[in-house]
Amino acid sequence: MDSIKQAVELARASDAPGPAPNASAGEIFRPGALDPKMREVRLDPVHLERSRIVAHASSKEQGRYYDMLRTQVLQEMDKKSWQFLAVTSPTAGCGKTVTACNLAMSIARLPERSVLLVDLDLRKPTVAKYLGAEPTDGVMSVLEGRSPLSSAVTQVSVGPTSFLVLSGGVSSSSSSEWMASQTMGTLLQTIKREFRSRLVIFDLPPMLLGDDVISILPRMDATLLVAGVGSTSVSDIKECQKHLQRSPVVRVVVNKTAEVTDSYYGYY
Ligand SMILES: Nc1ncnc2c1ncn2[C@@H]1O[C@H](COP(=O)(O)OP(=O)(O)O)[C@@H](O)[C@H]1O
Ligand SMILES: [Mg+2]
Repeated sequence: MDSIKQAVELARASDAPGPAPNASAGEIFRPGALDPKMREVRLDPVHLERSRIVAHASSKEQGRYYDMLRTQVLQEMDKKSWQFLAVTSPTAGCGKTVTACNLAMSIARLPERSVLLVDLDLRKPTVAKYLGAEPTDGVMSVLEGRSPLSSAVTQVSVGPTSFLVLSGGVSSSSSSEWMASQTMGTLLQTIKREFRSRLVIFDLPPMLLGDDVISILPRMDATLLVAGVGSTSVSDIKECQKHLQRSPVVRVVVNKTAEVTDSYYGYY
């Protein structure tokens, strides 16, 4: 556990304000007002639980850990009026998507908060699959100009809780190019403008498996780093730290902990 703590301290040390997004507005998006006929999907609690998405019920022990994470993240985000939260990890399989979905759901349970969850793991989009809301359109169809943003967004709900999801759609082998593109910059600007009142959570690819995250981080306000016990090493975290110099890390989640038996997650 010492090595994880050391790694976490390293990651938290990089807490400097990041640059503002600098993309220019374009004409390819026709976002308009939110589509009144927006696709709505009621999520199946059984499917959610199978995918480890548990934060719709605060009665569940694991759900309460996400509520604690939610409070810590919101405190940091609110202080600086931040809107865009990146969820990433050093390598694949650490639990980014599970964390992003649970955090979105936990925040959406707060009456005065609303959330948009965006799947930007374009190589391996899994948000829709985990939620059980397989998409018709997604980020890729918006980027490629095949559908407007307003019709690619889905409202998902479980019980009284609902939030918006922009899923990834089909996986793209050109993820790296898309992440660095002006088109992506324009999409993010449009999201910022159209979903002004919402916290936007981005499920990103792993940091160390390509340049996707490095390209997109300057356009994010803050980062939540998910480390996986057994799969994340101190040197992984040191490597991530280099790329996080200009992106504030709001929290590091140590996922898949087995040390405390009644604990699902550890936070630092
Ligand atoms: N806290 C956890 N405990 C046990 N397994 C987990 C936990 N979080 C995620 N997993 C499992 O780990 C695998 C990878 O999770 P996922 O969220 O898809 O990772 P990533 O998005 O970082 O690639 C999935 O099978 C998921 O169910
Ligand atoms: Mg994932």
